[in-house]
Amino acid sequence: MKKILFVCLGNICRSPMAEFVMKDMVKKAGREDEFYIASAATSAEEIGNPVYPPVAKLLASHGIECHGKTARRLTNADYAEFDLIIGMDQSNMRNMRLFFDDTEGKLKRLMDYTDTPKDVADPWYTRDFGETWRDINEGCRALLETL
Ligand code: 4NP
Repeated sequence: MKKILFVCLGNICRSPMAEFVMKDMVKKAGREDEFYIASAATSAEEIGNPVYPPVAKLLASHGIECHGKTARRLTNADYAEFDLIIGMDQSNMRNMRLFFDDTEGKLKRLMDYTDTPKDVADPWYTRDFGETWRDINEGCRALLETL
């Protein structure tokens, strides 16, 4: 069982989008049993809040359900629990390194799995949820190919 934790600042936009896109991809690939997939925040800002409504709506428009997910914060126990801890941008990577020493090289940036390494577009600032959707799909597809 491969355990993957997606991480962003608030755990209401990018990392839950990655969590549910990745769950959908592994399901469609018939590989659901191989993975445990979750997401978490570096900040305490949104803890307990549901997926940001425009993100939930976008996921639903692609037939992906995220009902019941609420934001949770990273914990020190996550490093031992997960095989891969995947941030969305450089800022997430810096924050994650404050939580973890990364002695086992588990901390990765999603788009570094692609041929075009970059930060996932942050819709909190761009308001362009479609761009974030495209980045995350490309990143998750590339990630799944390595697993
Ligand atoms: P996320 O988006 O990190 O992709 O969940 C954000 C959510 C909340 C804030 C920023 C980004 N905020 O500043 O509260």
